[in-house]
Formats: sequence, C-alpha cells, structure tokens
Amino acid sequence: MLYRLLRPLLFSLNPETAHRLTLKSADWFAGLTGTAVPPKPVRVMGIEFPNPVGLAAGLDKNAEHIDAMAALGFGFVEVGTVTPRPQPGNPKPRLFRLPQAEAIINRFGFNNVGVDAFLANVARAKWRGILGINIGKNFDTPLDKAADDYVFCLEKVYTAATYVTVNISSPNTKGLRGLQEKTELDALLGRIAATRERLADQHGRRVPLTLKVAPDLDDVQIADIAAAVRTHRMDAVIATNTSTSRDGVEGLQHATEQGGLSGAPIRARATRVLAALATALGGEIPLIGAGGILSGADAQEKFAAGASLVQLYTGLIYRGPALVGECAEAAREG
Ligand SMILES: Cc1cc2nc3c(=O)[nH]c(=O)nc-3n(C[C@H](O)[C@H](O)[C@H](O)COP(=O)(O)O)c2cc1C
Repeated sequence: MLYRLLRPLLFSLNPETAHRLTLKSADWFAGLTGTAVPPKPVRVMGIEFPNPVGLAAGLDKNAEHIDAMAALGFGFVEVGTVTPRPQPGNPKPRLFRLPQAEAIINRFGFNNVGVDAFLANVARAKWRGILGINIGKNFDTPLDKAADDYVFCLEKVYTAATYVTVNISSPNTKGLRGLQEKTELDALLGRIAATRERLADQHGRRVPLTLKVAPDLDDVQIADIAAAVRTHRMDAVIATNTSTSRDGVEGLQHATEQGGLSGAPIRARATRVLAALATALGGEIPLIGAGGILSGADAQEKFAAGASLVQLYTGLIYRGPALVGECAEAAREG
C-alpha cells in the first residue's frame, strides 16, 4: 500500500538515484519494522530456508544493505556480484525503466567495491540468516584467466557465505557468457570444484555452490551445462540472469539500450530454461528460479517448472516489498 503511494515519486527520479534513495530509506526503516512473511520451511542444498523467496543478486552489490533486505522477510539474501578488485562499472546512464512492459534494462557492468571492502560490509551486518555471495571476474581480467578471479573470490568469501554463486551469465562483462560454453565451463568448474574441496577440508564445512545461467541458451547449451554441473557436483543452478533479447519490448522507449533485460518480458524465456534444466537434471540438482516474477502466480509458475527456491529483483521495483509475502504465500498454497 505504502509502496503504491511512493512509486510515482520514485519513478519521477532518475532510476539510479531512485535505487540509491530506496536502499538508504530501507536501511532506516529496517530498524523500525520487520515485514511479516508466512513461514514455509524448505530444505535445499542441505540448508534449511525459512521460506523459499530470496533476493536476487545485483540489488545489494556491495553487501551494504543486508539487514534492511532481511527485514523485508526474504528467506535468503544474495549479495554481489563482487569481483576481486574494485571497479566503477560502465558510465552512466546505465539503468533504464520500461514501465509499460514492467521491465528494466541495465548495463551496470559489475560496479562494486571489491572483495575486501565487500567482506568488511558483510561483517558489519547483524542478520544471521542465509546469505548467498555472488562472485564474478573483473572486466579487465582476460577471459583465459577468468578462473583465477573466481578462485580468488571463492577463497575470500568462503567462510562468510552460506552458499556461493558463480555468475557466468551477466551480459555486461565482455565475453563472460562465453564461459557457459562446454569446454570453457568444464575448465572453469573443474578449478572451482577443486578449490571448494580444498577449502571444505581446511574449514570443515562444504559450502554449497550454485551456478547462475542466462535465459538465452539453446537446447545444446542447456544439455552441456546440465552435464557440467553434474560432473563438478554443483549444488544448484540459478535460472536465470537478465536477457539480451528484446522480445516483448520492441518499440518502447529505451528498448534499444544495450544491456540485460529483466522483468515481465523475460518470464517465459527464463521459465523455459528452468524447465529444460529440470528435465535434463531429473531432480538430481536443485534449481532456483528467477526472471520476471511479478506476482505470486509467477512464483508458482517457477515452482511448477521445477524450482525449489525463487529470487526477485525487478518485481520489487514494480510491486514493492509486498511481493515477498505474496510469493511466500503462493509457495505455501503449492
Ligand atoms: C539493475 C540490475 C542489476 C543486476 N545485477 C546483477 C549482478 O550483479 N549479478 C547477478 O548475478 N545478477 C544481476 N542481476 C540479475 C538479477 O539478479 C536477476 O537474475 C534478473 O534480473 C532476473 O530477475 P528479475 O526479472 O526478477 O529481475 C541484475 C538485475 C538488475 C535488474
């Protein structure tokens, strides 16, 4: 209700300013109120989630707002993408609203404070819930050295994370999505899996790893990804990140901006990849559904397609925080 009143004001601002303002005020309100979200405990990746609705990566890139996001009632919060070294991301403007389509295009390009400052922010959070840390590569690390960046970040964040997401699907870092191809993926996941085994021995805890994929994959790529996540014993796959397609937004203002499209127009595309992965993996590896969830019914579509958990981003901007409870309620209704 409150968000319905606030939204026109936020939408009158430049999107990146509105984004910053909203997060700042969320920090402030978090101390005053918590949001009641119906419980729906689920066990996934060996972790007990209080409810299956999570915050998707990219909203809190620097882990500065964990307590505020947790206060919205999420069952889990994913922060990042974080890279080894700080980087400014792409020049502004780099975030665009397409309100007629309930969509966003962004080309942030992994702007973040770097893994050391990021971990200092994580340490300041009071919340002790399920925290996913999403890792990536610096824009200027050559692709044939990408694995070094992921290994570096995994070592750094290992003890701070409940689970770690390997993000190889952002369209805003040149060549990143090429890491989803069979040979590249096999090499990358081989390095990451070996690092995880070593860290598990060292710390006495095997931190689950999830792989985040794009919605723009064909059937062969999906089959290759399913084989690779099995071989390297990933613990879950997140389907999906933003899309490079412009289906459903043609002709709208900003539709031709470069970047990743999110929100309502990618819902079906993301669910198709989710369902294909569910078939290919035959229930062996859990799936986390993301992409275009703007209602409880949209969340139910992801569960029906094989997701054990879901994540929200663009829906929060169009529907506000009430969406978290609506999706958790939808999960309870099954
Ligand atoms: C502005 C913006 C920034 C994002 N940044 C990241 C990111 O840093 N890392 C990541 O894995 N996904 C990122 N995403 C993708 C979201 O986590 C999510 O996978 C995608 O937007 C699809 O869900 P949605 O339609 O509910 O937004 C970003 C999305 C948006 C809209």
